[in-house]
Amino acid sequence: MNVMRDTLLREIRRRETEYQNRPGQDKWRLRFHIMPPAGWLNDPNGLCFYRGKYHFFFQYSPFDPEGGLKVWGEYTGTDLVHWQYEGTPLLPDSPWDCHGVYSGCAFTEDGLLDIFYTGNVKLDGDYDYVNSGREANTIYTCSEDGIHFREKECLLEMKDYPTGYTNHIRDPKVWKAGDTCYMVLGGRKKDNRGAVLLYASKDKKHWEFVREVTTREPFGYMWECPDAFCLDGQWLLSVSPQGLKREEFCRQNIYQSGYFILPEKWMEEGEPKEFREWDMGFDFYAPQTFRDEKGRRILVGWAGLPDIKEEYNNPTVEQGWQHAFTMPRELKWKNGKVYQYPVKEAEMLREKELFSGSRQDRDPEKTQGILVEDSCFDWEIKETDSRSFSIKIEEECVLKYEDGVFSLSFEGIMGAGRKVRKALVPKLYSIRILADTSLMEIYLNEGEYVFTSRYYTESDVRQLSVRGLQNAGNIWTMKKQTCLTGL
Ligand code: FRU
Repeated sequence: MNVMRDTLLREIRRRETEYQNRPGQDKWRLRFHIMPPAGWLNDPNGLCFYRGKYHFFFQYSPFDPEGGLKVWGEYTGTDLVHWQYEGTPLLPDSPWDCHGVYSGCAFTEDGLLDIFYTGNVKLDGDYDYVNSGREANTIYTCSEDGIHFREKECLLEMKDYPTGYTNHIRDPKVWKAGDTCYMVLGGRKKDNRGAVLLYASKDKKHWEFVREVTTREPFGYMWECPDAFCLDGQWLLSVSPQGLKREEFCRQNIYQSGYFILPEKWMEEGEPKEFREWDMGFDFYAPQTFRDEKGRRILVGWAGLPDIKEEYNNPTVEQGWQHAFTMPRELKWKNGKVYQYPVKEAEMLREKELFSGSRQDRDPEKTQGILVEDSCFDWEIKETDSRSFSIKIEEECVLKYEDGVFSLSFEGIMGAGRKVRKALVPKLYSIRILADTSLMEIYLNEGEYVFTSRYYTESDVRQLSVRGLQNAGNIWTMKKQTCLTGL
């Protein structure tokens, strides 16, 4: 019996129960997006389909909505839209991860669910915590039911990593090709360049360093959460780089996340090229992908970012929680880029069709109002050939398309400090807005561009308006609570 583990578990359950039983109403609590049972959530971890269920783990700090000591929380479900909270299977209870069970992945084989993650250790003392004062251990554990995990094993520690790196190395992602397992780790080099470390292993336990994968020109100082996968025949490398310069139509957030195109023989030679951001909204970072039992490549992002407080915030902190996941998005490789669209199962969330815009008798020059008597909706507008239009959600959120620029902007308090995010969109032929109580995802051209953003309004209904569109599409209200955080 591990006393420290039992005490921590008890404290976490106490905190969660206290939060669930707190008095008062929380209108920003999410209905169908995954959110923390209490406190803070960040990266998706260990996404997989195992023994008939999806397992979604997450970076979790139950005690403080502003973050803190990280454990792994877990949700399971059978259909990607209904979720059940399963508790906190991985805790910082070993000398290799005593200051945080950091991000990692799942790998399923031979009836086992393997987990690889980074154990964070922070030493006490006068350190810069970049080149010294922290340890990043690559840890392995496995499970036969996806909930209870065996003894942890430390596979790689600081002395095992190649020279030329700072102590920022983390977030393993593992996959298998033929009889070899591969792993990528994200890193910060001593010359302040972000890079990925590629490893190989025959037995999942002994890892050999293969090569460093990075761009020819420096591209940020740190690459977090790497993920390499082959989508419809094209190898891609997803990373979350830090330290890129902000621009008007791209890289508008404090940190980015996107994917590079990899050359076919990237495990031996060549550089990643043509970085494209996953999401153009205010709240997106550290995504992870996995292949499900149907063979789909599915991406889930953290609908949030670290270190944003100076710029904008999430008033849910006052309610005792912060952050969420995006909807699971199916990825497709088309026209030399990745399209991401909510998995088909998301349509099961639709309850009542409120509005069908099939009639073509509207004057696009007139503003058309639509009242949704609910705080959640799924709105699909197809085949617009309008070159200029605007959509309003309540009074303070405006989606505008004009001169080949799509923008999402907030006025007043609805954005809690969020102002405007833009993308160059030469042609816009469809829009889908998936709106939860305080989180919206806007998909343009069936996922060619996505904007994920939190928003905060006191209203229980949504007053929508459209101008410049002949056909205002179809709107559905959404089912009640499908993400169960109760214990
Ligand atoms: C990304 C990240 C990861 C790290 C984790 C810690 O958001 O910084 O690199 O493993 O969060 O919570």
